[in-house]
Amino acid sequence: MKVAVFRRAHFNAAHRLYNSDWSYAQNMDVFGICTSPNFHGHNYELEVKVVGEVDPVTGMVINLKTLSDLIKMEIEDRFDHKNLNLDTDEFKDLNPTAENICHVIWQILSNKLGEAYEVTVRLYETPRNYVEFPA
Ligand code: NI
Repeated sequence: MKVAVFRRAHFNAAHRLYNSDWSYAQNMDVFGICTSPNFHGHNYELEVKVVGEVDPVTGMVINLKTLSDLIKMEIEDRFDHKNLNLDTDEFKDLNPTAENICHVIWQILSNKLGEAYEVTVRLYETPRNYVEFPA
């Protein structure tokens, strides 16, 4: 029997959407105020879905403490109160859009959790704007 387990988490981070090959005007056209040179912040809300078989002995798909510790260590500690463009390796050369942040988080978590689990990551950049990977 497969069941989906969910865990929510949160981090604050600053970013700037920017393509260095473009002029400021081109960046403004595509990214609007999100390309402001001095960065801006978001309260990112993260929802992680883990699908797996229920272990007949424990009755659990995954220990939620294990999952919450993993998200804390691998995602929150890495990105919380950081400038994504300047302070992280992941976004030094990758535009920190919600889409790219979501995909990076998915890569980290699905790598750590291994093949026994199907991971889906939903990332809210604002309460109304959110993305999900895999689509
Ligand atoms: Ni933004």
